[in-house]
Amino acid sequence: MRSLIRPETILTLDDQDRVIANGAILINGTTIEQVLTAGELTALPGNDYTTVDAPGLVAMPGFVQTHVHLCQTLFRGLAEDVELLDWLQRRIFPLEAAHSPASMYASARAGLAELIRSGTTTIMDMGSVHHEEEVVRAVTESGIRAFLGKAMMDINDFHPALRESTKNALDSTLKQAQLWHGSANGRIRYAVAPRFVLSCSDSLLKEAHAMTRSFPGMLFQTHASENRHELQAVRARCGMDNVAYFEALGILSDVTCLTHCVWLNDREVDLLAERRARVLHCPSSNMKLGSGIAPVPRYLERGISVSLGADGAPCNNTLNMFQEMRLAALIQKPLHGPTVMPARTLLKLATAGGAAALGLEREIGSIASGKRADIILLDLSRLWNRPVSATADDLAVSIVHSCGPTDVHSAMVDGEWLYRDRVNLTIDMTAARHDASRELHALLSRAKIL
Ligand code: GUN
Ligand code: FE
Repeated sequence: MRSLIRPETILTLDDQDRVIANGAILINGTTIEQVLTAGELTALPGNDYTTVDAPGLVAMPGFVQTHVHLCQTLFRGLAEDVELLDWLQRRIFPLEAAHSPASMYASARAGLAELIRSGTTTIMDMGSVHHEEEVVRAVTESGIRAFLGKAMMDINDFHPALRESTKNALDSTLKQAQLWHGSANGRIRYAVAPRFVLSCSDSLLKEAHAMTRSFPGMLFQTHASENRHELQAVRARCGMDNVAYFEALGILSDVTCLTHCVWLNDREVDLLAERRARVLHCPSSNMKLGSGIAPVPRYLERGISVSLGADGAPCNNTLNMFQEMRLAALIQKPLHGPTVMPARTLLKLATAGGAAALGLEREIGSIASGKRADIILLDLSRLWNRPVSATADDLAVSIVHSCGPTDVHSAMVDGEWLYRDRVNLTIDMTAARHDASRELHALLSRAKIL
């Protein structure tokens, strides 16, 4: 099954950062067989493919969001104007604890619809403690590419319903990894997810990290050094800072994905670089919860892997990558001047950077032959986002600073259209909307906090 997509412009974001006008992308099954220039296209032999004309559209690799919480999508707008520990203890934990299988599925599906419509084709999701199978079901049906894992918590004085014994957290995680790592034709992979230091014992953190060694390609995801009060509590318990503590536990490695990393001391930055741990940067969440500004230019200078994510709907309150790219740039400029974080850097973090963080750099993150066909089509012809020219710089500036979700025309993963001509093909939007409101209503009456 081959198809030939013919956009006006291909922004490859490959090693040479090629921009191809009037070329084409030949897709064979799940894979990009060839990326053709206009000249190569006229010489393309045979016609054993379907042609998909995409006049006026720009093709680029789909966005990779390395940190989201699909289980929180229903909680959008329900935890406003509070800082992290209150946000978690008063709002998010009780809401997560009130999930049923049906509300978990509705929450995941709502998040996935929004992610796909706004051009995200790969995610790493941190689930809740229970009902992870419903997240997997929604992810599988949606066609998106995902790393996912249930949140592990063996310490939680606020919501015992979200606390498990160390053994149960590890046993259920192991079972899930055996079931789902590599499922959905390889689109789903597992990432163990001890939630953050304050809800995890030392042995849970160490065993969870050790488990990744038994599964090739598995990752370890957690939150780290997000907020100053959180860090004070970490120091009180561990006698050191968060990332230093991970080093002491022996769990900093090249499978370690640390969300936030806002408050690191100098030695911890060295450790990230030495151990090749990854930083998952969530600028909207950091601003909205008043957490702080992650020193991303410094991480990039040190060659530390940085990628982007929207975090959860209740600390953002959207899941759109355009916003994360733009804010990741704007948040740094008042501190370091306007030359830091140019648009092309942001576009790389949002694609190849995400792919590299997930160990998928050979599979996704650019439009190149041999890579997976994870591609989005953008309409940059509108009055408000028309680039001056089709150079890589002008396109990047337009996409990062002027575009939004409504400019996404189509999205495919593994050669399958998930969203085409602004219509979701794998998610029934009417059903998703009805389910989301019904399930939120029922969940709120179970949670009894509002
Ligand atoms: N730290 C521990 N859990 C969470 C979460 O769900 N969201 C954020 N932003 N930080 C966390
Ligand atoms: Fe998070």
